[in-house]
Amino acid sequence: MMDGIGPIRVLVLETEPEAANHARDALSGDERMLLVGTVTDQGSLLDKLGATYAQVAVVDLAGLRGEVGPAVREILSRAPECCVIVTGANVAPGIVSHAVTAGARGFLLKPYQPADFVATIREAYVNFQELRRLQRIDRTPGVTTRPGAVIAVYSPKGGVGCTTIAINLAVALARRAKSSVALVDLDLQFGDVGIALDLKSANSIADLLNHVDAIDASLIDEVFVRHSSGVRALLAPDNLASVPAIDPDRVARVVDQLRPHFQYIVCDLWSSLEELTLGTLRMADRIILVTTPELPALRNLRRVMSATGLLLQDERTLLVANRVPGKAGIGVNEIERGLGRPIAATIPSEGVGITEAINRGMSILDERARAKSGGSYRKLAEIIAQGLEPAALARSPRRTAPVTEPTRG
Ligand SMILES: Nc1ncnc2c1ncn2[C@@H]1O[C@H](COP(=O)(O)OP(=O)(O)OP(=O)(O)O)[C@@H](O)[C@H]1O
Ligand SMILES: [Mg+2]
Repeated sequence: MMDGIGPIRVLVLETEPEAANHARDALSGDERMLLVGTVTDQGSLLDKLGATYAQVAVVDLAGLRGEVGPAVREILSRAPECCVIVTGANVAPGIVSHAVTAGARGFLLKPYQPADFVATIREAYVNFQELRRLQRIDRTPGVTTRPGAVIAVYSPKGGVGCTTIAINLAVALARRAKSSVALVDLDLQFGDVGIALDLKSANSIADLLNHVDAIDASLIDEVFVRHSSGVRALLAPDNLASVPAIDPDRVARVVDQLRPHFQYIVCDLWSSLEELTLGTLRMADRIILVTTPELPALRNLRRVMSATGLLLQDERTLLVANRVPGKAGIGVNEIERGLGRPIAATIPSEGVGITEAINRGMSILDERARAKSGGSYRKLAEIIAQGLEPAALARSPRRTAPVTEPTRG
């Protein structure tokens, strides 16, 4: 599940100060929740949804400017990733079904106990995430067993360390419980996974594009290159001239079709938010959003957040700060405050160790590499694996959201 990725960010719409205080107290008593704001009317709620990166909006009927159905729909059109829970007292017949039909994931009748408040938020949110995960899996045609997890490594600014992180994360995942790991170079123009791992092949992702619906083990053996760590790499095309003609949808479908063959599919993306990047981010089970503690990197991240609206807010996203502490003196706390999201992992500056590893085609985790930051990649692999392990995923899925039906009394 998503439990490992920071507290659930809750925005509350409540007209009565006393009830708002109760909500605040209930949330402050649970470290898995974070109250990111309280507002007293629907307009302010809509304004705050984006800026607070709220994952859950608890809205009281008394604060809505009209019918509950249109209100819920308006919230969801502004923040489709947000889990909406409606509260209210003296609820008229039909209100709950209007709310739920419009997309609310829970309903809580007032007065409620603090424990019920927190439990409803948690249960509704967790089920909502599960549903979204299943929707992503459902899009994989022909797959009946648990498909592999796609992990996209991305930054809107180039040169911050995505490729380095993708490579070393793939190796750390492969070593962890001997998982089968694919490393896919989706920087089609300038991909350097092959160079960094000293892998050469006449084949590349371009060779799979005409076989999207027929990717099997023997084709994978033919096209992927095996690194000494066990990671199997799918390289970017050597022929730069062929890249503009490549259909990004087809590439994204290739990645999707790899799911049954690997436990993890780590995708190294380039910084441009073009179709292939967006397609990969859409299908990913985890998004590693990389930044460095420098103003240009942070500014680009913010700009992308407002352009896509969702990336930072998305529960699949893990923010990773590379090369910390940095020379500019921007601290981890400052980055978190600026981006409104906790940093899931940090990676120190490696100095010459990294260059030496690249020059020898090794991962930093290789015993022969004289690098110090191997532990941070192992830690990142642990965080990534949380909730993606086969055991965790074998649980029977629940497709319905909890709705606490109002019981009068
Ligand atoms: N933690 C680190 N410490 C020191 N150097 C690093 C670290 N991470 C990455 N680098 C170096 O920074 C440079 C850029 O790294 P990398 O190629 O991984 O970034 P990228 O985001 O993939 O860049 P591009 O936009 O070119 O794809 C490389 O020379 C790499 O060796
Ligand atoms: Mg790169």
